[in-house]
Amino acid sequence: MAKSPEKGIRMEQVCYSVGGRTILRDFNLTLEPGINRTILGVSGVGKTTILKLILGLLRPDSGSITIDGADIGRMGERELNRARKHISIVFQGGALFDSMTVGENVAYRLLEEGDLGEAEIERIAMEKLGFVGLEQAMDLYPAELSGGMKKRVAIARALAADPEYIFFDEPTTGLDPIGVYNIQQLMLGLQRQGKTTLMVTHDMPTAFAVSDRFSFIHDARLIFEGTRGEMEASNLVEIAEFFSPSEVSLFKFANRQEET
Ligand SMILES: Nc1ncnc2c1ncn2[C@@H]1O[C@H](COP(=O)(O)OP(=O)(O)O)[C@@H](O)[C@H]1O
Ligand SMILES: [Mg+2]
Repeated sequence: MAKSPEKGIRMEQVCYSVGGRTILRDFNLTLEPGINRTILGVSGVGKTTILKLILGLLRPDSGSITIDGADIGRMGERELNRARKHISIVFQGGALFDSMTVGENVAYRLLEEGDLGEAEIERIAMEKLGFVGLEQAMDLYPAELSGGMKKRVAIARALAADPEYIFFDEPTTGLDPIGVYNIQQLMLGLQRQGKTTLMVTHDMPTAFAVSDRFSFIHDARLIFEGTRGEMEASNLVEIAEFFSPSEVSLFKFANRQEET
């Protein structure tokens, strides 16, 4: 298949505001196939919003968002659903359906799409649960799982539809060191399979372990884009404060709404 020069996800000059507050101003972000990226920034700055905009769950006020060259702002619901098939997201907290078993959670999207038979869907669900080391949890309910297991089920669910791009919203928050290690290894395993990851996190060891490039957002703007080395060499005070907070930052963000 000929390689299209347009492959990838691109946000250009995106503006987005909600409740009278500007969340993103002229925001740019590129996700090229094979280049894994982490978005960094303080709580409440708009990182989850970026992921939701790309998924078409929110609409930008202006600017464009393209997936493999196609502008999602010009798409109808059916076209948008087709474009979304290339992307899956592991939401903050996992967002599993509590009334469904683990197996049903993983199979959910494929059952909704209705393109495959039940036996094939069950085979895929089992395979994806195997990838995250949870075949034996197929018939359990989310309430019976630890936080780390829930995250892994959420990853298996995201993989069910075989997406090219996988978004991770704070995948290691609240996990113990072994849980964090498992998630890092799973992300690296996916990258070896040719998947491209886009992560939002405050967990710098994980960001550095799994990402090639970094986008730093501050006060609605992209203030840095580049590699770890470039980021560490940058003289931006916002980045320095993010890595090692000092009195300069004391209570600066105290009135910001913390994410839940
Ligand atoms: N429906 C809404 N009404 C008003 N403000 C909102 C709404 N949804 C999100 N926000 C605000 O948008 C900002 C960005 O949110 P979010 O993208 O979740 O931040 P992050 O993921 O970086 O913590 C937050 O300050 C939040 O309070
Ligand atoms: Mg968030």
